[in-house]
Amino acid sequence: MNVYTPKKWELSGLQGISDETLQIHFGLYEGYVKNTNLLNEHIAAMRAAGKNAGADPAYAELVRRLGWEFNGMRLHEYYFDNLTASPKELGSGKLHDLIGSSFGSLENFKKDFAAIGGMRGVGWAIAFHDKHADALVNVWIGDHNINELAGCEPVLVMDLWEHAFLRDYKPAEKGKYIESFMAHVDWNVCASRLK
Ligand SMILES: [Fe+2]
Repeated sequence: MNVYTPKKWELSGLQGISDETLQIHFGLYEGYVKNTNLLNEHIAAMRAAGKNAGADPAYAELVRRLGWEFNGMRLHEYYFDNLTASPKELGSGKLHDLIGSSFGSLENFKKDFAAIGGMRGVGWAIAFHDKHADALVNVWIGDHNINELAGCEPVLVMDLWEHAFLRDYKPAEKGKYIESFMAHVDWNVCASRLK
């Protein structure tokens, strides 16, 4: 059974996303890592005991819950990985070309991504690389696990749960958080996800 270890990030000094918000957010992330490991332990124990019948509600609920905890862990890793305190504009290359072929321009892409971030509810805005079609697709992910696209790699991930911005902004000011996030995207990290 794989045991996941929490990652660490040095992101202090972001404009518009406070260090205090980040510290709380790192703690929440570590909760997802802990609970993913705990769920896997329970699932493995039931399997070892021969109690892994799909009709068993206890086993079924554990397995169903895994996607939520696991994606809660993994999406936060994508999110913190694609933030930087010293951002640079996206240069030419594969990601730039992909954004151009899928959205017409970087400006259009950013506008669409931010608009999806502005949707009501808690969840994530994610730009996926559909490797099968070699296209970029922007989607809203409800919770952590509703609307994931199969066979696609997350390229840009923005957290839109309220814990990501409510210490820094009022509930109606989500747009300011989105602006801060977009200003701190590490495009080099995003481009590296296409490989
Ligand atoms: Fe979060």
